[in-house]
Amino acid sequence: MIESDFPATWKQSFLYLSFIFTSLYLLHSSPLQKLLLGQDKVHIKRSPDLPLRFRSDGSFKILQVADMHYGNGAVTRCRDVLPSEFGFCSDLNTTHFVKRLIEAERPDFVAFTGDNIFGDSTPDAAESLFEAFAPPMESKLPWAAILGNHDQESTMTREELMGFISLMDYSISQVNPPGEKGIHGFGNYDLGVHGVLGSRLANRSLLNLFFLDSGDREVVDGRRTYGWIKESQLQWLQSLSQKLKDQRVDIDQMPTSNSIPALAFFHIPVPEIRELYYRNFVGQFQEAVACSSVNSGALGAFVSMGDIKAAFIGHDHVNDFCGNLNGIWFCYGGGSGYHGYGKVGWPRRARVIQAELEQKDGEWIGVNRIRTWKRLDDKKLSLIDKQVLWEL
Ligand SMILES: *[C@@H]1O[C@H](CO)[C@@H](O)[C@H](O)[C@H]1NC(C)=O
Ligand SMILES: *[C@@H]1O[C@H](CO)[C@@H](O)[C@H](O)[C@H]1NC(C)=O
Repeated sequence: MIESDFPATWKQSFLYLSFIFTSLYLLHSSPLQKLLLGQDKVHIKRSPDLPLRFRSDGSFKILQVADMHYGNGAVTRCRDVLPSEFGFCSDLNTTHFVKRLIEAERPDFVAFTGDNIFGDSTPDAAESLFEAFAPPMESKLPWAAILGNHDQESTMTREELMGFISLMDYSISQVNPPGEKGIHGFGNYDLGVHGVLGSRLANRSLLNLFFLDSGDREVVDGRRTYGWIKESQLQWLQSLSQKLKDQRVDIDQMPTSNSIPALAFFHIPVPEIRELYYRNFVGQFQEAVACSSVNSGALGAFVSMGDIKAAFIGHDHVNDFCGNLNGIWFCYGGGSGYHGYGKVGWPRRARVIQAELEQKDGEWIGVNRIRTWKRLDDKKLSLIDKQVLWEL
C-alpha cells in the first residue's frame, strides 16, 4: 500500500510546492505586487512634530473647517451655487478652498468639526477621507477631526472612521483616550498646546483642546432627533478638567489664578444656542438651530468646569455667528464644503482661532487673549467678523 501510493503523493507534493514557489515568485515580481499591495511599499503613518506648541512669537493659530461634506471628488456636484457656477463646480472646489486657507493663514493646526465626508455620496469612505483631508496632509500640518452625523453613512462605522482618521498622515485625532472605558461615542480626546520652545513653560500645556463626539441621530420617545453629548462624556471631561487644574498648581508663572484655558470642538450645537437669537451675536443667524431634543446639561457642565472659554461647532451651514452663553462663547464655523447645502450667493467660509501668550519680564507666560475671525471663499479670501473671545 505504502509503496504503490508513494509516487502519486510525491507528484502531488511536487505540484503543490511548484505552485507555492510560482506564487511567491509572482508576488515579488513587480506587476503583481503593484496589483496586490498598491504603488508604495507598506505605508507607515507620517506624524507631525509633537507636542503642539505656541510659536516663538507667542501665538497659536487654529483653522476650523466645518462641514466639508466631501463626496467622490471631481464627479461630486456642488449644491447651492449660482446657476452659472454649477457646471464647473465639484468637491475639488472644497479642496481648493481649504488649500487657499492654509496658504493664507499658515495655521499651526487644523480642526475639522464633523460632516467631513457625506457618506451618502461616496461608495468608499476611505477614498473620500483621503481626498477630504488631503490639504493638511500635503502641507504636513497637524490636524484632528471629530465626526458629524453624516460621516458614517458610507462604508465605515463611526468607530472605524475614527480609527482610520487617527491613522492618517499628520493626524493627531484619537478614537478615545487610551485606558478610558465607558465613554460614549468615538472621538473624545484632549490635545494640549505647550509653551514656546526654550521657554520655562515649554513642557507645559498652556491651552487645552477638547474634542467631543456629539453623535448622529437618535430616537427618543419614538421621535427622531439629533445626537447629543452624553453624561459619560461630560463626566470624563469634568474629571479631565479637574486633573488638569491639579497639575496647574505648581505653575507659578501663570498670569492668573484661573485654570489653563480650554477650547471645545464638536459638531451638533447645544440646545441653548437657540436663545442667542434674541441676544447679541457676531455673524449671521440664518437658520434654525438643528440640535437634539435632549438637553444633557453640556452647557452647565462646561460652566462648572470653568476652563472652557469657547466652543466651536458646525452642523448648521448657514449660521456662522459667535454668541456668549453664561460666559462661554459658542461659535459656528460656517459651512466650508460645496457639496453640503449652503446659500446661493453667500460664500462658503471657515473660521480661524488664535490664542496669544502674555509676555512678562521677557518670559512667555500663560494665554491672555483668544481671538477669532472668518475667511470667505471669494477672490480676496475676505477676512470678516474679527473679534476677541476672551481676554484676561
Ligand atoms: C470651482 O472651481 C472651478 C475651477 O477652478 C472654478 O472655475 C469655479 O469658479 C469654482 N466655483 C466656485 C463656485 O467657486
Ligand atoms: C523640557 O523637556 C526637555 C526634554 O525632556 C528638556 O530638555 C528641557 O530642559 C525641558 N525644559 C524645561 C523648561 O523644563
